Order: sequence, then structure tokens, then C-alpha cells
Amino acid sequence: MHIAVPRETAPGERRVALLPADVAKLAKLGHQIAVETQAGSQSSSIDSDYAKAGARIGADFADTVRDAQVICAVQPPALADLAAIPTGATVIAYLQPATSRPSIDALNARRASALALELVPRITRAQSMDVLSSQATISGYRSVLLGAEALDRLMPMLSTAAGTLAPAKCFVLGAGVAGLQAIATARRLGALVSGFDVRPAAREQILSLGATVLKVEGIDAEGSGGYAREQDAEQAARTQAAIRAHVATMDLVITTAAIPGKRAPVLLTAESIAGMKEGAVIVDLAAETGGNCEGTRAGETVRVGGVRILGPTNVPSQAAAHASQLLSKNVLTLLQHLTKESALHIDPADEITGAMLVCHQGELRV
Ligand code: NAI
Repeated sequence: MHIAVPRETAPGERRVALLPADVAKLAKLGHQIAVETQAGSQSSSIDSDYAKAGARIGADFADTVRDAQVICAVQPPALADLAAIPTGATVIAYLQPATSRPSIDALNARRASALALELVPRITRAQSMDVLSSQATISGYRSVLLGAEALDRLMPMLSTAAGTLAPAKCFVLGAGVAGLQAIATARRLGALVSGFDVRPAAREQILSLGATVLKVEGIDAEGSGGYAREQDAEQAARTQAAIRAHVATMDLVITTAAIPGKRAPVLLTAESIAGMKEGAVIVDLAAETGGNCEGTRAGETVRVGGVRILGPTNVPSQAAAHASQLLSKNVLTLLQHLTKESALHIDPADEITGAMLVCHQGELRV
């Protein structure tokens, strides 16, 4: 099987879809891999590492994908590059069907099969292919470092000859994969950490990490597949009131709340933010899907009175080597899932493949 790995060209994208260690595993299985020059240079993997792993180094996108049966990328291929993709090839990437319609239509016109990494079903069998979890782990960790860097105080309690510094108070809203990692990281840095989630199961996980839970009675909103569902108006109002009172004493608030397929819920209203302490920092990890705070702007830092709201985008790219390591393992496992006797076998009836397939043999599926 011919596999191609292009260099990412989207602004701010530093990751690569396959790292040399996984290229070597594929080469050992008899596959031919082409990697575009400089593809891994922002993830600490240079061309000679890929060459040693058995890859051919492509001079540009067209040269890299010229024989490809499978193209593994992070972001959707640029529209200008699509004409170079061989007819009927399979493309694996974050395809963002909701916002990248023209790319998907163009791939479909080339009778490509396209699998969107972010549509991986959250089932046990697919866990090792789950980019949502692997990349959220990185985002959760990085969010605390971003917040700590922006604070005008330290995170741990320190007793010195010049006096005692109180620990920073950190509150994590939304305790899924990213939120739990943020809680663990803030605890390691010595902050006093509290957390909140609408799913009852998440509350036990918050406690198991040594943080406290903000309690709000009667607000459980667990939906299907272990995900949250939208709260009703009365539950949301009760939650808002409890959050407003709690954040008034916080130094750092990290928000990670999401509802699959929907705009992120607004959990920090302008009124709650106005009640926060001078110098407090909010890191809104939901910035890319609309934000959990009133006033978040994706990719910017907004100042509201004495409070700063950070709206970072593509946070995993800030730790590109480790993010790529996990992503590459996800892609490798997916490739193995899609291979039967060394040949590519795209089966739309398969639970995992079918869920991720956005177009196949001229048929649009989203
Ligand atoms: P996510 O990114 O969709 O959401 C993050 C968190 O925000 C979730 O914990 C959610 O409950 C919470 N949230 C939503 N609305 C909220 C609100 N109004 N207030 C407070 N919190 C709110 O979720 P993520 O992190 O991708 O995964 C969530 C859960 O999905 C996991 O804990 C697990 O149960 C399940 N999961 C299953 C996997 C599998 O079986 N392969 C893999 C990963 C996750």
C-alpha cells in the first residue's frame, strides 16, 4: 500500500500525521511511505529521521502524493492541492465537515474516500484511534501552563522568610478528558483546585484527583455514550448562579465544556466575569466552538475589567512533538484497522470506518 504524509500548511498547525517511529512500523509491514520534505520539522522530526525509517522524501505536495492510495494529514488538504490527489485515493485527516464543505465536495468529485479523524466513535474498540481524547489530553495540560504564565501570582503555597504566599485557587469547568488533565496538572503545580461537570460520573473522577467539586443540586445532564446533554433552562440558571458565586474567589478558571455537535454552552456570563477578582485569568479551551465565556474571542486575549480571557486555538500544536506522537499512534491504529492482508479495505458497514467516512466512491455521507 502506498501511503503519503504531506507537510501541513494551515496557519498555526505544527503537528504531523505520522512520526518516523510509526513510519518504520508501516515500512516493516511492506508498505511504501512518502513524506513531504519538512513535514515533521515542527514536531522535532527531520527528513533524515523519516528516510532512516524507510520513507521516500517528497519534494512537494504533488510529488509526495503522486502514487498514494492513502494520504494521512492533520488538516484538510488545501483546495489548491486537491487536483494532485490521485483519483480514488483515501484521505485521513481532521476534515471538519461542518466548516470545510468545499474540500469535502472536491474530494468527493475525485471519488476519494475521506475519513474524518474527529468523527471516531467513542467506543472501547476505537480508543487507540481516538484523536479527540489524545489531543484533549495535551490541551488540558497546556491550558494550565497558559493560565499559570498569564497569572501575576504563583500557583503553589510558599512559606518564605519574607512571608507566606497563598496558593492560587483554580477552578476547572467541564471535567471530560481535557478538564481532568487540567485538574491533575493544576494540582501538580500546587494550586487549590475545584471542578464542576454536569455528568455525575465526572464528579467522582474530580474527587479521585484530589480536587473538590462545586455542588449544585438537581442538575444531572448525562446523555448517551457518556456525553453531556444540554441542561434545561431551570437547571442552567441554577448552575449559573452557583458558578457565579464560586468564580468570584478564583484566580484561574479553565473552561472545557462541550456538547458534541453543538455550540459550546456559555457557562461564564458577563455578570459572572464582572464579579471576578482583579488579576484573575480565564483560559477558554472551548474558544474554537464558540467559547464557554461571554466575550471570548478565538485566538485572542480579551481584557474585561481586571480579568483576562484567553481564547487559545489549536492548543495541541503548542506541544507538537507529543501531540504528534499520540496522533501518529491514532493514525497508525486506524490504518491497521483499514487494512486487510496488506491491502486497503474500506468497509462502510464497519462501525468505526462507517462513522468516520464522509465520502466514499462518489457518495457524500455528511
Ligand atoms: P467533551 O469535550 O464533549 O466535553 C467536555 C466536558 O464538558 C464533558 O465532561 C461534559 O460533560 C462537560 N460539559 C458539557 N456541558 C457542560 C455544562 N453545561 N457544565 C459543565 N460541564 C459541561 O467531552 P470529552 O472530554 O471528549 O469526553 C467526555 C466523556 O466521553 C468522557 O468522560 C467519557 O465518558 C466519554 N468518552 C468515551 C471514550 C470511549 O469510550 N472511547 C473516549 C473518550 C471519552
